[in-house]
Formats: sequence, structure tokens, C-alpha cells
Amino acid sequence: MRKIIDIDFGSTRYDELVQLRYKILLEPLGLKFLDSHRHQEINYLHIGCIECLDDKLIGGLLLAPLDNHSIRLMQVAVDSKYQRGGIGSELVTYAEKRAKEAGYKKIVMHAMLSVVNFYEKNGFHQEGEIFEEKGITFARMVKEL
Ligand SMILES: CC(C)(COP(=O)(O)OP(=O)(O)OC[C@H]1O[C@@H](n2cnc3c(N)ncnc32)[C@H](O)[C@@H]1OP(=O)(O)O)[C@@H](O)C(=O)NCCC(=O)NCCS
Repeated sequence: MRKIIDIDFGSTRYDELVQLRYKILLEPLGLKFLDSHRHQEINYLHIGCIECLDDKLIGGLLLAPLDNHSIRLMQVAVDSKYQRGGIGSELVTYAEKRAKEAGYKKIVMHAMLSVVNFYEKNGFHQEGEIFEEKGITFARMVKEL
């Protein structure tokens, strides 16, 4: 059994989420997680998925407020052993609920082209031109809440 939880910035769970994000998202691209990133995340919402059997964090994401209307979904990561089991979609659905409760009307995100299909399956649609950042191609995706 698994559960989706809110994670407090600076907690042990937050450190677990940083490590998971590093392993799944940053390390494969040769990127580092810097202390300056940690400071930027104080005001973000941090969400995780726990496997209840061993209390292990197996997925997570961030929500970064942009303005009163829009919030940005970032760094959705699911442990490789658990991918394609519905956890990513559960995390996104929970994030949408939290964003809506907090009064946001729109979620925006930058998806790597390889996972655009995942976000389309979750009700996002592509907006504008694809673009490149640090050699990686992204699509801007949005969902009205
Ligand atoms: C992308 C990711 C978050 C999806 O989470 P997940 O738990 O594996 O996805 P789900 O099981 O909820 O997938 C739902 C549907 O989305 C689509 N999908 C999921 N992962 C996909 C992928 N990597 N590529 C293309 N489509 C994908 C599939 O249609 C899937 O349904 P299906 O398995 O019945 O075909 C996860 O695989 C992951 O962490 N990948 C590596 C990191 C990454 O690329 N993150 C996105 C950063 S923008």
C-alpha cells in the first residue's frame, strides 16, 4: 500500500525527496543539486509518495508559486522500480488538488519531450513552441484547474 503526503521543507522526508530527485532527474543528465537550490525551495509545496510496507519515499514533486493565479509543477520523479505503476499520475492529481485548495487557477510546467505523453494523459496540453535549455528540449504544458 502507498500514500501521498505533504512534506515539510527541511525535514528528513525533504532530504529523502532531494536524494530521489537527484537520482532520477539530475544525475542522469549530469546535473548537480546545489545548496542554492535548497534555499529557493523554502516557499514551494513539496509532495511525496510513501510505500507503507517499508516507509520508503518512492516518488515526489514540487509546486512553485509563480503569481496569485498560476503555480508551476516541477521535478516529478518516481523511483525507477515503481515507474509505470500509476504513482506519477497519483502525485499529479494530488498536486492539482493542493494547488486548487490554495486558490490557484492554472498549473504550468516544462516537460522534457520524452514525457509529454505522460502529462497529456494527465490532462495537460502543450502551449507555444518547444524550446531548449542546457541542451535539453522542453515543451511548455498547462492545465486549467
Ligand atoms: C515520467 C514519470 C514521472 C511518470 O510517472 P509514472 O508513475 O511512471 O507514470 P504513470 O504510471 O502514472 O503513467 C501514466 C501514463 O503516462 C504515460 N507515461 C508514463 N511514463 C511515460 C514515459 N516515460 N514516456 C511516455 N509516456 C509515459 C503512459 O501512457 C502511462 O500509462 P500506461 O503505463 O498505462 O501506458 C516517471 O516515469 C519518472 O519519474 N520518469 C523519470 C523522470 C522524468 O522524466 N520526470 C519528468 C520530468 S519533466
